[in-house]
Amino acid sequence: MEKISQSVREPLHRVDSRLKVTGAAKYSAEYPLPGLVYAVLVTSTIAKGSIKSIDSKAAGNAPGVLAVISHVNAIRPPGYPADNEHPTEPSTRGQPLRVFYNNKVYFNGQPIAVVVADTFERATYAASLLKISYSKEEHRTDFHAHRDKAVLPESAKRNPRSGLADYDRGEVDGYKKAAVKLEAEYEHPAEMHNPMELQAITVHWEAHNKLTLYDKVQGTQPTQQNFAREWKLPVENVKVIAPFVGGAFGNGLHNWPHETAAIIASKMVNRPVKLMLTREQMFFMVGYRPRTWQKIGIGASADGKIVGISHSSIGQTSSYEQFTESTLQQSKMMYTAPNVSTRYRILPLDLSTPIWMRGPGEATGAFALESAMDELAYLLKMDPLTFRLANYTDSDPEKKLPWSTKFLKECFEMGSKAIGWEKRKLEPGMLSDGHWQIGYGMGVGTFGANRGGAKVRGKLYANGSLVLQSAVTDIGPGTGTAMTQVAVDHIGISAKSITFQLGNSEFPQAGNQGGSSTVNSVGSAVIAACMALKTDLLALADKHIPEFKGKSLEQVVFEKDSIRLKDKDVSMSLSELMKKSGTADLDVIEEAKPGEERKAYSMYSYSVHFAEVHVHSITGRVKVKKVVTCADAGVILNKKTAGNQMIGGVTGGIGMALQEDAVMDHRFGRYITKDLADYHVPVHADVPDIEVFFADKPDYIVDPMGTKGIGEIAIIGVAPAITNAIFNATGKRIRELPVTPDKLN
Ligand code: MOS
Repeated sequence: MEKISQSVREPLHRVDSRLKVTGAAKYSAEYPLPGLVYAVLVTSTIAKGSIKSIDSKAAGNAPGVLAVISHVNAIRPPGYPADNEHPTEPSTRGQPLRVFYNNKVYFNGQPIAVVVADTFERATYAASLLKISYSKEEHRTDFHAHRDKAVLPESAKRNPRSGLADYDRGEVDGYKKAAVKLEAEYEHPAEMHNPMELQAITVHWEAHNKLTLYDKVQGTQPTQQNFAREWKLPVENVKVIAPFVGGAFGNGLHNWPHETAAIIASKMVNRPVKLMLTREQMFFMVGYRPRTWQKIGIGASADGKIVGISHSSIGQTSSYEQFTESTLQQSKMMYTAPNVSTRYRILPLDLSTPIWMRGPGEATGAFALESAMDELAYLLKMDPLTFRLANYTDSDPEKKLPWSTKFLKECFEMGSKAIGWEKRKLEPGMLSDGHWQIGYGMGVGTFGANRGGAKVRGKLYANGSLVLQSAVTDIGPGTGTAMTQVAVDHIGISAKSITFQLGNSEFPQAGNQGGSSTVNSVGSAVIAACMALKTDLLALADKHIPEFKGKSLEQVVFEKDSIRLKDKDVSMSLSELMKKSGTADLDVIEEAKPGEERKAYSMYSYSVHFAEVHVHSITGRVKVKKVVTCADAGVILNKKTAGNQMIGGVTGGIGMALQEDAVMDHRFGRYITKDLADYHVPVHADVPDIEVFFADKPDYIVDPMGTKGIGEIAIIGVAPAITNAIFNATGKRIRELPVTPDKLN
């Protein structure tokens, strides 16, 4: 198997950085098509009921208005699911909220009309003129008032082997027999997606049967397939373009009502339409991390061996879609517990559908599990790191398979050393600096090392430049950069001569950028494309350079934009070879798929985060002073972009632990935090020095690069590291996020 060379793993600057900082990068609201008009959504102000009437006269007569569209007059996408179709999970497969379908209101903030005008300002003004009357029904938005109505998801019922189904290993509630045990409840509120770039779409119909979408999504082809289905069009008639995405991490993994609304509007006014959500609308209709309540029972023998873990979880969903996520996975496989039970339930409420948010499910579950681990360690009078090491697993206790690789112990070592773990006292409240109480905490994270099939096109031109293409998107991790580096390593062409084009559904097959799987999936296809090009190049050399006659790929080296004999100093630049052979270009499309060898292993990335916090003993203010984060994510292709991802994940974890909180006013069933002034996310002043380490060990079971995936483990386990550190500082155990100062007083 080919191994990645050390040379390409040095930090390459982002290949698209200049485009991004100069504003040349185009986002989905930045395509000024000829004849473009503007759409503005009108949203419901009740949480449940129906629309009695819409008076659109004033809006329709307002200057520049082309259409006022609602259930009263909207055309229907022919592929809308039937009324009796059961709620589905919100993958990109369809959109159960059928926008403008009838007069029903399912959540506060639901799009119920769209106004199209010749300018954005005129559309906004006209939208304000709509008069809507409702017939209200009693809504359910209060999680705790309705917690008893939680249900097993349909997907778990249909497939008892699904990771969401009830799971029992050993004895149910075996923890109860343990010498030392803990039962505790944990909860976090809904957390809202707030990427820099607002959700936006520009729609262009041609001849009423060809649809082009410039759309903020995490997958061009999944979106293409979804809207082809919704509009009953051949897939090739739908084109989705998203070369730049200004942040996502989950909310681009599903298609949302505003997209269909814009497509309907464009078709009805027969003009290209642009629709961009307001920041406020981002809080209502493009998904969020669901409020989740968890209960853990955990017990260990007096010498610190875990006897059992029982972990149950209820996450909120909407009334029209069953959102699920993998909240309980880490409890099944992280520790050597002989008795493990998990129960996953969802609670339908009159709210919009949640969606995956970075480390989806796992970050939620790890908050409970890693908090409980810390609590139990304290009851055992054991150091929490020693306790985790005492229950470290060298194989997967759930699947009963060996790990493909696991270097978490190495991460423990690096991280504990860098944070100065030896300074930590077993008893809380022992360290202080004036009014500041000092504490240390840790949290562990894991996420499946996923990989899917992908295709990459490689086109080598006679001037020696290489263009690679994939339909994949880049929501920020630097996919083009990493893929360029993979190509450098596998075909020896310099980075400046390589262009990686992405974000277009017409490019070769790729799934969503999600689940920490892009490098594993698309990178493997880049290698396959490079291999095919090398084979073609060698055939040219065989014909046109006498010394290369009869040579195999093993006998040649591709480096410095040239092909060279391994054992002799004979080489020729690729452009010279192309010219000499009269080849205008070489063009390949290659596919790479995960192989059978994966089935014999359990594959995960791992992380451990160590936090030092200072808590003010009078005000309860928490300052995160330092975070050390260590990841076993396989080979690290680019220390800079990978390090950036870890820093971003830790930052998100700080928000989860201390700040993020979507507050609901249940009288209206409406979130009252609806901008970045009242919905707090970490800013620079909240983010300390974050030190990143990587185990940087290859895992060739996962893919030929030896990578495992970084995006999710960067956040999973961060929140409990911080809350555990708060306990160590203060002796206060806060089990409900976010830990705001009032909870520490
Ligand atoms: Mo991620 S939650 O797979 O964007």
